Amino acid sequence: MARTQLMGRTPLMAGNWKMNLNHVEAAGLVQKLAWTLSDYRYDNAKAQAAVIVPFTDIRTVQNLIEGDKLPFTFGAQDVSVHDSGAYTGEVSAAMLAKLNCAYVVVGHSERREYHGETDQVVNAKALKVIAAGMTPIICVGERLEIRKEGTHVPYVLGQVDGVLAGLTPAQVGAAVIAYEPVWAIGTGEVATPEDAQEVCGAIRERVSASFGADAASKVRIQYGGSVKAGNVVDIMAGPDVDGALVGGASLDPEEFARIITFYAR
Ligand code: PGA
Repeated sequence: MARTQLMGRTPLMAGNWKMNLNHVEAAGLVQKLAWTLSDYRYDNAKAQAAVIVPFTDIRTVQNLIEGDKLPFTFGAQDVSVHDSGAYTGEVSAAMLAKLNCAYVVVGHSERREYHGETDQVVNAKALKVIAAGMTPIICVGERLEIRKEGTHVPYVLGQVDGVLAGLTPAQVGAAVIAYEPVWAIGTGEVATPEDAQEVCGAIRERVSASFGADAASKVRIQYGGSVKAGNVVDIMAGPDVDGALVGGASLDPEEFARIITFYAR
């Protein structure tokens, strides 16, 4: 059993496809993932799994997962801060909820870097996701220069304060926070298990101080950044690491199935 399950939290292994796979390719990957998980005798009581897909893939993925009762859920990679109206190109939380998305990632470092999203915007998006009845996966994480300065813990805690502003303790307890050091994303440069635990533990302490012990014991805190089948077991050994947000490796069904079933090794 994973350490995190001893604390009453079920690990969440989420695959962020980013801007990869059209809807036909998405159907192929979801089916292959389901077959591979069944080969591995995947038990979703031991670790939950989700695919976080491009908007254009959601309907196809929904039909497959719901129609075939596959043992994992799905979600979106971003959402609008607006409810509806003249916002060309935006997708609302209500639209995603109507498609039965379980999760919506907000504040991924690529959104922050290429689209100028601030903690305030990420906070507004998280609140929209919650109001629409879905679970936000709220991303935080420091860039390389902050890590080199050694100020990564206070920096990330400042982000946590910003992105969780205005949430109730119950909403925080039901949310997912993803700690993704920017220098470890897509670089093959993985944080050590100690690095991951250090920051995930500090985030939980901050949640406890700001929202209470109950919220802190329930909130799931993922690590993300170059997670692979070969390093996931060590990363998941941290008592405050409740799952992984997996980019590149989630596009390979064999690799992602091995990541999801980390608990068996
Ligand atoms: P990576 O991406 O696993 O390819 O490093 C992680 C992420 O950006 O969520």
